[in-house]
Formats: sequence, C-alpha cells, structure tokens
Amino acid sequence: LRAELLAAVDGAADREALESVRVSALGKKGRITDMMKGLGKMSPDERRETGQALNALKDDVAAAIETKRAALEDAELTVRLERERIDVSLPPRPETTGTLHPISQTIAELTAIFGQMGFEVAEGPDIDDDFHNFTALNFPPDHPARQMHDTFFFPEREDGDRLMLRTHTSTVQVHTMTSQKPPIRIIAPGRTYRCDYDMTHTPMFHQVEGLVIDKATHMGHLKGCLIEFVKTYFELDELPTRFRPSFFPFTEPSAEMDIGCSRKGGELRIGEGDDWLEILGCGMVHPNVLKACGIDPTEYQGFAFGMGIERIAMLKYGIPDLRTFFESDLRWLRHYGFAA
Ligand code: PHE
Repeated sequence: LRAELLAAVDGAADREALESVRVSALGKKGRITDMMKGLGKMSPDERRETGQALNALKDDVAAAIETKRAALEDAELTVRLERERIDVSLPPRPETTGTLHPISQTIAELTAIFGQMGFEVAEGPDIDDDFHNFTALNFPPDHPARQMHDTFFFPEREDGDRLMLRTHTSTVQVHTMTSQKPPIRIIAPGRTYRCDYDMTHTPMFHQVEGLVIDKATHMGHLKGCLIEFVKTYFELDELPTRFRPSFFPFTEPSAEMDIGCSRKGGELRIGEGDDWLEILGCGMVHPNVLKACGIDPTEYQGFAFGMGIERIAMLKYGIPDLRTFFESDLRWLRHYGFAA
C-alpha cells in the first residue's frame, strides 16, 4: 500500500490530481483512515503495533503530498511568470485625456479676473420662487417677463406660489443681500433657463451676475470696474467701450455696455474698427430692490451687472454656433475644450 500511495502522489500531474490522491488516502473515507477505524476491533497488542505502522504510513504519505504540492506550485509559478512577462518593447496604448468645456474655462477666467478685484463667488438655487426671481427685483405684477412663454414654471403649490427655473442670475443678488450685510462684492456664475430655442437661444444657458453694495458706491465705480474687466478678459490694452441707456426693473439708471469691433467681410474683430457690440446689462441697484432685501437705500448704494457666459465665450474663442455648446459632440469638445 505504501508503495502504491507514494507512486500515486508522485504521478499526480497537477494540484487537482494531487488533492484527489490525498482524499482517497487520508480523507474521511480514505484508505488509511478506513484502516485506522479498524483498530478498535483489535487486541491491545495488535492495536499498538498496527497503530504505529499506520501512523508512520500516514505521516510519510502526508509528507510526500506536501513535497509534491510545493513542487507543483513552483512549476505553475514558473509557467505563469513566463506567460505574463511584460513586453517592454510594445508601444503604449494611446492615452485620451478629457478637456475643460469652454463654459467651465470661461467661468474660471471670470472668477480669476473678478477675484483679483476683490469679488467673491456666490450661489443661488436653479429652482427659485417668484420673490427672488421677480418681486424683490422690482418687477411689477403684470410685467411681460412673468408670462408663461419666457419662464419655465412648476405647477402651482397649495399656498398659491409657483416655483420656477430662474430666468436670470439676478436671483442671487436677492439671496446675497438678504443673507449677508454690506459691504458686498460678489459674482454669481450659473445656469439660467428660458423657454426659447433658435440660432441664438437655448432653453438652458449661463450668466454671470455681479453685485457691489457699499456706502457711496456710484456709477463711476460701475464703469471703471466693467471697463477693466472687458480689457482683461479680451486681453486688450485698448478697447473702446460705451454705455447706452437701457431699462431693467431692478436697476436705475440702467445701461447696456458695448465694446468696439469691426465686422468687415462678415468677420468679427473685437477692439478694431468703428462698430459696436453689446456685451452686458448693468445699472445702479434700484432703491426698491435694496428695500425688499432689508437694506437702507439712504445708507447703501451699489451696482449690478449681468452677462451671458456662452456669448462672451463665443466672442473670445470664435465659436460660431451657440447650440453646439450643449450637443456633447466629442470632436467639438476636443476642438474647443481646454487642457484641464
Ligand atoms: N438680469 C439681466 C438679464 O438677464 C441682466 C442684468 C443684471 C442687468 C444685472 C442689470 C443688472 O438680462
């Protein structure tokens, strides 16, 4: 039996075969185990002798199995090392890195430029109420901008109020003024929504809002700040600007800011020629807005501005079509995207 078992151990081709040899000899129903069970029926003398022999056999077989197992494992490892050897001469797989979307890039630029001027970044919710989007901003109850076709409304609530997707980032003016004390110097970049879709409008777009509230802030501060901004953003030492009177319910006086450009041969060039391009809306914060936000207009004044982020990104980076911003076309993203 010893010779037979040791031969079986030696002949096992792999670890699986070796394991079945072990089970057939030393397992619960193995041959050595079976013989051990027979010891009970023997006389004491016989039991001692046979027991010793069986134990020796068992130890020898177990030792042989261990030695064989180690040898098999060694062989397997050698095979694996050979198979998994790395071929350092293979060319690397091409690596693809994502890019920053032009919107993210432009927001980073805006944040950096206004950050240098002491502005902090503020936020407000995309879903807001009538008070923050309209009422506190001095929109009269029958103002056309409240009409269904501009604003995405949610269903009316039980208390009669309707939530909506904010139509401009001016909501953040209200959130900021009702939650922190002047002096205030914030910009608020973010998403805005209007029910509109054509060549120059997408239902979701981005704006950046600016708000400065302090004692004795005046129109000169507004103009100086925005002229400085457009020159820095467009990287031009000389850039003609003009402020045209305009109207917003929440600013008085209100203005639109234009920058100088030329449109010769259909090609737009910023900072050249004698044409004008509208770039943003702005004005001195209306006293009614300050009052609605709990700020005393006889003590504090300020200015606000708002501009479209896609628009200024298109102008700086020569992106022709607004709608392409949100199509997630990989070729577009690779072309107009920025290294992260
Ligand atoms: N909220 C205005 C718009 O969406 C822009 C604006 C902001 C104008 C702040 C004046 C002051 O067109």
